Amino acid sequence: MNCKTAVILAAGAGTRMKSAKPKVLHSIMGRTMVSHVISQVRKSGSEKIIVVVGHGAHQVREALSEEGVSFAVQNEQLGTGHAVLQALDMIPEEGGVFIVCGDTPLITAETLEKFSDYHEKSGALLTVLTAQYDDPSGYGRIIRDQNGGLLRIVEQKDATDSEKSVREVNAGMYCVSAQFLRESLPRLTNDNAQHEYYITDLVAMAAEKDGASAYCAEDVDEVMGVNNRVQLAAAAKIMRKRVNERLMMDGVTIIDPDSTYIDDTVVIGNDTEIGPNTIIKGNTRIGINVTIGEGCQIEDSVIEDDVDILKSVVKESHIGSRTHVGPFAYLRPGNEIGEECKIGDFVEFKNSVFGSGSKASHLAYIGDADVGNDCNVGCGVIFANYDGKNKHRTTVGDRVFIGSNSNLVAPVTVHDDAFIAAGTTVTKEVTEGALSIGRVVDRMEEGWVDKKNLRREKLHSSHKNDR
Ligand code: UD1
Ligand code: CA
Repeated sequence: MNCKTAVILAAGAGTRMKSAKPKVLHSIMGRTMVSHVISQVRKSGSEKIIVVVGHGAHQVREALSEEGVSFAVQNEQLGTGHAVLQALDMIPEEGGVFIVCGDTPLITAETLEKFSDYHEKSGALLTVLTAQYDDPSGYGRIIRDQNGGLLRIVEQKDATDSEKSVREVNAGMYCVSAQFLRESLPRLTNDNAQHEYYITDLVAMAAEKDGASAYCAEDVDEVMGVNNRVQLAAAAKIMRKRVNERLMMDGVTIIDPDSTYIDDTVVIGNDTEIGPNTIIKGNTRIGINVTIGEGCQIEDSVIEDDVDILKSVVKESHIGSRTHVGPFAYLRPGNEIGEECKIGDFVEFKNSVFGSGSKASHLAYIGDADVGNDCNVGCGVIFANYDGKNKHRTTVGDRVFIGSNSNLVAPVTVHDDAFIAAGTTVTKEVTEGALSIGRVVDRMEEGWVDKKNLRREKLHSSHKNDR
């Protein structure tokens, strides 16, 4: 491996994104574009990675603070050549240097390795990565002589009509000798349509010394540059396919890859099945033999083995093995759900612990609660955690039965083996094994309807059995 040092250009404003956020921080399948580039460059063997920051430098540095890269600052964005110049002091005296744009998120380590091997074998001062595009618009064009020898790169804005018809484009990635970089970078001028110092002009300088070569990428998708949001979506689509295919090759069943959106950061065990119209994001880990049925959204969560989830939303939660969730459950952030639980339809959880074997089968809100093992939360139970000003917690022991349509008004504690009768509003501590019952006692008055003349008019003659 030749290029031990890499310079990643990430100082541009990205005007064409029309965004307050620096372009390279726009995300593709859960990772920023520049982070995709960094990970592939590192995987290809570069040990020292220098990111040139400028526009939104603070934001870019912060986003990359965990990536183990160094930063060079380009205060004024005077072009890609000027950007590399800002990193020159940090580049070793000798050896090969990768120069890669931060807006080419689909590049892979394999291609970078082949590219630098090619560079090394060619003995060139500079090798540029190129690709053949049917529609080359927007890219710099590779200009060759009659014998196919590399001459220079011309930017679209500086190109003549015949140069514009060239379909071999500059991918914006270069392998350069450090010495050549050192002597040629200060010689760049900004005598062009954009009045910028172009890194691409190094190609002509190397060609003059018979030291320029080009390596054509096999997969054109990999070198795609992202300058606007249409290209961002196109790149995301390709990345999504890659992630899905990687997971399938690792033993995950994806029923409909076209409608499945899984971030590059997600880890999924084998024999897990993912249904259609599902989105799995962020720092999520899913175990073995899990079923994520159709229509789920899962974010930053850990789902243990043999769980099944259907048509539900799960955020920042941990779900223990063999638990069933859904359909139509909503787990807001901060839940620790035990093993073999049941969370049924229209149950909402927030910031709660739910012990193993506990069940909330339908229509309940469990917020800011610590519920023990083997409890039963009936239909329509509400943990009233908010008094209009502050949130309070509710504690429920093991094996507690909470009858349907009960309210637990926090802060309140219900001890082990207690029984809450349906319709009770619990405001007082319930002791171990006690019954808590609080209802309006129902009474009946014979003939009351006719006495009050309130019998309802008959609109339908037949009984429902006649239908
Ligand atoms: C550049 C190339 C073009 C190539 C294309 C590939 C030049 C002059 N042109 O064009 O030949 O086909 O990439 O995608 O190099 N940047 C800085 N500082 C600056 C300007 C840019 O750090 O002063 C960074 C940007 O953040 C971006 C990268 O360099 O990550 C490329 O800049 P961009 O403006 O997107 O160049 P293109 O017009 O795409
Ligand atoms: Ca670009």
